[in-house]
Amino acid sequence: MIRFNQPGLVGPEIDYLAKAVSDGHTSSSGPFSDRASAILCEALGVPDVALTTSCTDALELTAMLLDLGPDDTVIVPSFTFTSTALAFARQGARIRFADIEPRTLGIDPNHVAELIDDSVRAVVVVHYAGVPCDLDGIQAVLARHPNIEVIEDNAHGLFATHRGQPLGTFGRFATLSFHETKNFICGEGGALIVNDEADISRVHTLIDKGTNRREFLLGNVDKYSWRDTGSSFGLSDLLAAYLVAQLEGAEEILRKRAAVTDRYMRALTPFSERLGLQLPHVPEHGTSAHHMLYVLLPTNEARNAVLRTMKARGVQATFHYVPLHSSEAGRRFSDSHHACPVTDDVSGRLLRLPYYNDLTPSDQDYVVEVFIDAASTAV
Ligand SMILES: Cc1ncc(COP(=O)(O)O)c(C=O)c1O
Repeated sequence: MIRFNQPGLVGPEIDYLAKAVSDGHTSSSGPFSDRASAILCEALGVPDVALTTSCTDALELTAMLLDLGPDDTVIVPSFTFTSTALAFARQGARIRFADIEPRTLGIDPNHVAELIDDSVRAVVVVHYAGVPCDLDGIQAVLARHPNIEVIEDNAHGLFATHRGQPLGTFGRFATLSFHETKNFICGEGGALIVNDEADISRVHTLIDKGTNRREFLLGNVDKYSWRDTGSSFGLSDLLAAYLVAQLEGAEEILRKRAAVTDRYMRALTPFSERLGLQLPHVPEHGTSAHHMLYVLLPTNEARNAVLRTMKARGVQATFHYVPLHSSEAGRRFSDSHHACPVTDDVSGRLLRLPYYNDLTPSDQDYVVEVFIDAASTAV
């Protein structure tokens, strides 16, 4: 069986884990967390990156930092993982689902413009598959609404760029995921990118059970106490040690993933017209983080038939997000219902091929052979 995903090691992960254990700092805010944060701050050119136990937690933290409540609305794409919406619903905010646009599968700025009213406090964008969404379009719409925050759920797009600027640096906050299925991993993990220096102090209070423990650790106060709301969001230094190894190997990981993308694209492109396939599109002013390789089949029936055939021939391909706007919880937590026809269409036709750092060229060629055979029969 060629698996859909296979978590990959760069090299020093186990040594770093052993060092965290033997040095004795295994809770959050340890030396490896500082190292991971410093690498990310330097690479992204941002004032702070706070490590969290997941991207979901970083999104929940964002909702707390914005002090959202029942009178506030957050616009979220329907084509995304539940966490993008759940984190804001959990804080009591109302969710309004926007459709995606068909080129990047990111949130559609025109639909966002239609959905904005005085209750909207934030728009959450997702860079699906590590490809920048239409940030120019979003910025143009929000230029007329300076009080609405942009939050980037950048679970897929670490180190991708839009007009030369790293994804994750366009809104007030952005979130990252280091879940084992992502490009850079530590089992379960995430981070909050803080783009405004004025937010740093409160971010650390909310991460650390509502206390000013960071000030205490920095030697600025002689004891710490309860100051604000918050939770226990900090990443264990054991996992941060694993993550540092991955981030230090980021160039190698990205090079391998770019090679996987290139090989798939070269093999699939010649068939796209005949079989009616839509392949990923990277906008002219952007670069991709190479998070995955998806294909849109012409119909839902063809997609499902191809998935079945591939499974029978030992290749684990898969579908992706089920639209949130029509889900049970999506209907419960949204304040109004809006059609998202592109989301419905894409969700029914999208198929993801096996994709990981160490996928071999020969396994990739087999995946393509099986896919093309199956698609030629199904369409
Ligand atoms: C777009 C998006 N946001 C958030 C998440 C949640 O990430 P985590 O598992 O780190 O909480 C995912 C997970 O797949 C995702 O795809």
